Amino acid sequence: MGWECWYNAGMSFDGEVGEMVRANQANWDARTPVHAASEFYAIGRRDPHGWFAPFEWHDLGDLAGREVVHLQCHIGIETIALARQGARVTGLDFSTAAVAEARRIAAEEGVSIEYVRADVHDAVAHLGSGRFDVVYTGKGALCYLPDLPRWAATVAELLKPGGFAYIAEFHPVLTALGTSPGPDDGPELLLRHDYLEGRGAVVRDSTYTYTDGPALTSATASYEWRHSLGELVTTLVRAGLRIDSLTETDELPWPRWARMTRAESGWWTLPDDDPKIALLFGLKASKPAP
Ligand SMILES: C[S@@+](CC[C@H](N)C(=O)[O-])C[C@H]1O[C@@H](n2cnc3c(N)ncnc32)[C@H](O)[C@@H]1O
Repeated sequence: MGWECWYNAGMSFDGEVGEMVRANQANWDARTPVHAASEFYAIGRRDPHGWFAPFEWHDLGDLAGREVVHLQCHIGIETIALARQGARVTGLDFSTAAVAEARRIAAEEGVSIEYVRADVHDAVAHLGSGRFDVVYTGKGALCYLPDLPRWAATVAELLKPGGFAYIAEFHPVLTALGTSPGPDDGPELLLRHDYLEGRGAVVRDSTYTYTDGPALTSATASYEWRHSLGELVTTLVRAGLRIDSLTETDELPWPRWARMTRAESGWWTLPDDDPKIALLFGLKASKPAP
């Protein structure tokens, strides 16, 4: 039996937080088959390149020949887009089901990617220290991290000196509004959730995930932690990284509100008579060379 067969996430956290991380692992195992069959991800029908904003490709620069790791890669959609830029790409996720789907999809797409099943907090033990030119993560990843300083130390250690981390994540403004419509969602943009960190885990117990598809029949509970932009920037700086850029955009790769329209980039934006608000950000942070 290989390490991956019995590996349990959350081992690096004690007590209640460890339990929450393990619940998340089970929840992602349950969501994965629904996602892999969904119209939302449209595997084989939607070009993975389109899950990136043009400014992300600009910030990432030429990836040809570079060692890239995609943390919390899920079923590996963005991972494939990164590999198609000519990078040598590793994807890491703690969900057995997600890693199995990611391997299957990459094989079907004819893309060579190394996939590793591990908790992101244990990534250095699994992947090695100082190995990567680029650490990429985001679009629904940071909210599953109970301890941002620990995660930032991991990211910094994975990087070669001179390498950089790129975090493309839902803006905390969007998280506060809700990343998917609530049952009583009206046309107004209403803050329903915390923007700031600090109130601990938020439990979500739902038979439905964010994609189309059938209801979950088990492992419906998941736990999220809020992280503000201020917390993220300060945590990365304290981990020894230098902030190179922080881009905020009013566009999303999917239509969160029914009234959103296609932008020139192919992503979705609110109409002109709505407030112009940040919905996603891209943050580039480098590990200084000695
Ligand atoms: C929304 S996906 C993000 C990937 C990508 N943006 C996408 O939408 O396909 C979140 C991923 O984080 C993974 N995840 C959550 N907590 C994790 C942890 N502690 N260690 C490793 N992976 C984790 C889940 O298994 C899931 O595949």
